[in-house]
Amino acid sequence: MALKYSRILLKLSGEVFAGSRKYGIDPSTLKFLSLEVKKVFDLGLQIALVIGGGNIFRGTAASANGMDRVAADYSGMLATVMNALAFQAALEKEGIPCRVQTAISMKAIAEPYIKLKAIRHLEKSRVVIFAAGTGNPYFTTDTTAALRAAEITADALFKATKVDGIFDKDPVLSEDAKMFQEISYMDVLKKQLKVMDSTAISLCMDNNIPLVVFNINTADNIKKVILGQKIGTTVN
Ligand code: GTP
Repeated sequence: MALKYSRILLKLSGEVFAGSRKYGIDPSTLKFLSLEVKKVFDLGLQIALVIGGGNIFRGTAASANGMDRVAADYSGMLATVMNALAFQAALEKEGIPCRVQTAISMKAIAEPYIKLKAIRHLEKSRVVIFAAGTGNPYFTTDTTAALRAAEITADALFKATKVDGIFDKDPVLSEDAKMFQEISYMDVLKKQLKVMDSTAISLCMDNNIPLVVFNINTADNIKKVILGQKIGTTVN
């Protein structure tokens, strides 16, 4: 089967991990997500992952509520490590070898982030999860995904979310919101579409990394995008 991409960076939002719960990790959702990843892993695709932490701790919300921004952001980074370890275990259960690398050194728990080692893992058919954000406060996990995608020279950044793509207004709040099939990075920035923060969008734009935004809760969507079907919104 002809794949449109050979190496991708898949960004999973932490919120997706919660499934129908308000917070935390839903085991059946974890199983569903690992089987979705397996569908494309079995096609020979090299997959690196960045997972958010919003299902456990929201840095921006905590800082809005008065918590020191830096402390809040570090707490959010730690939440991404929990999600990474949970997803690593779920993937390995499906027979997918997986390595976790963290941007903040915690060697008792996971490998430190080393770009060349990450690429070697991918070449050896292992999924790699990049955890603990960029290791710096003030950067989102979307920016982490864009940065790591550039570093490992991924063919594309896949942003897997709870909505079908990028809309002209919030589809949860407005019933008449229209979804774009394609849009340029510049338009995303100009229209201030809330798909990723401007740092992440700029990184993708400056490094010519196509971005595909799609709904991960629809079965087979990752596979369809990999096979070149028009799913979600493509930004380039
Ligand atoms: P190759 O070098 O390609 O054989 O990769 P490998 O990951 O199989 O070998 P390595 O000896 O590097 O790692 C073996 C196991 O130990 C893997 O599960 C790694 O994720 C894990 N590992 C490697 N380095 C560290 C580390 O610094 N901390 C932790 N906690 N685990 C590590």
